[in-house]
Amino acid sequence: VNTHNLCLLGFGNVGKALVRLLIEKQAPLRDQYGIDWRIAGVASRRLGWIAAPDGLDPEALLRGEFPASLPDLSADPVRQWLEAARSDVLFEISSLNAQTGQPAIHHLRTALECGAHAITANKGPIVHAYRELRDLAARCGKRFMFESTVMDGAPIFSLFRSALPATNIVRFRGILNSTTNYILTRMEAGLNFEDAVREAQEIGIAETDPSADVDGWDATVKVAALATVLMDSPLDPNSIERSGIRGLTGAAVQAALAEGFRYKLVCTAERGDAGQLRARVGMEKLSLTDPLASVAGTSSLVHFETDVLPGLTLTEHNPGPRTTAYGLLADFINALRPEGGS
Ligand SMILES: NC(=O)c1ccc[n+]([C@@H]2O[C@H](COP(=O)([O-])OP(=O)(O)OC[C@H]3O[C@@H](n4cnc5c(N)ncnc54)[C@H](OP(=O)(O)O)[C@@H]3O)[C@@H](O)[C@H]2O)c1
Repeated sequence: VNTHNLCLLGFGNVGKALVRLLIEKQAPLRDQYGIDWRIAGVASRRLGWIAAPDGLDPEALLRGEFPASLPDLSADPVRQWLEAARSDVLFEISSLNAQTGQPAIHHLRTALECGAHAITANKGPIVHAYRELRDLAARCGKRFMFESTVMDGAPIFSLFRSALPATNIVRFRGILNSTTNYILTRMEAGLNFEDAVREAQEIGIAETDPSADVDGWDATVKVAALATVLMDSPLDPNSIERSGIRGLTGAAVQAALAEGFRYKLVCTAERGDAGQLRARVGMEKLSLTDPLASVAGTSSLVHFETDVLPGLTLTEHNPGPRTTAYGLLADFINALRPEGGS
């Protein structure tokens, strides 16, 4: 059994869910995979840089009891922290910066340079630095993994990496933003737009400022991430045709449903005949027979058309931070397998 020093950069909903899941799965990880772990570092802007190479008490972290941050920080605290913690794996789970991907890109780059596997749920580094981090990981003999960035714990990236080698994706279509899908589902049940947004905020799935979801930005970044990795076509989210669900009324949603249609925020990317990639995010009025119309609430779905499998659909039902944490845990286990074996 090998014990791995884990560092968490970001300790919000996903970070806490990851620690809970690591505790829950500690025995099977040890018994079935020969993997043990200790939390050797936790960091955030408020917590500072906490390092303990012999391990922190995970239960105490969940209770909100944190030791002091590292004193005397250098000009590069991430590197100093990772080295002090003797990190084998960095989980980069800080907030998304959709504009630049920073500082998460710097965090992941530094982890790889320090000899740690770099695992993230943060979409920013995928859309702004995927190729750089992938190539750096290969040079460093480490893994750069990011399963949770799109559809939380659903195995999209590992599916194509492992089970579907030499497959070309011609087109994909999906419902990739839980918040807007939840709002549309609640509008079908009789709420107006403002009340549906308020309810989504109250149950913790929409942010105080819901515009990143409602205006289609989050979905756009996910389309860019899928296209960048799976279709080998780096896409700037700003270049994707985008519209959101703002302006739609409850009455219009309910009238459409009475006629056998559902409004959905649909994500699409397809390769044209000349090889160029076209992507868009926008509201569509779908027939109830369309598989995308069946996705309710916070669930999500993606349908791929490939050169060999004419159609392949993945649906993820009711994800939450624990689902996202599972994507990170799966990345951790797969990172320790021989390359190509995950
Ligand atoms: N929630 C989900 O189910 C889900 C699903 C898929 C992907 N994700 C992604 O996972 C990541 C974490 O999500 P979350 O729900 O856990 O968010 P969260 O609850 O808001 O937590 C974010 C954490 O990151 C820290 N942080 C933010 N900016 C930082 C910075 N510049 N440097 C260091 N630490 C920073 C925050 O602490 P301080 O304020 O103290 O810095 C906090 O601990 C995000 O990138 C999100 O997009 C989440």
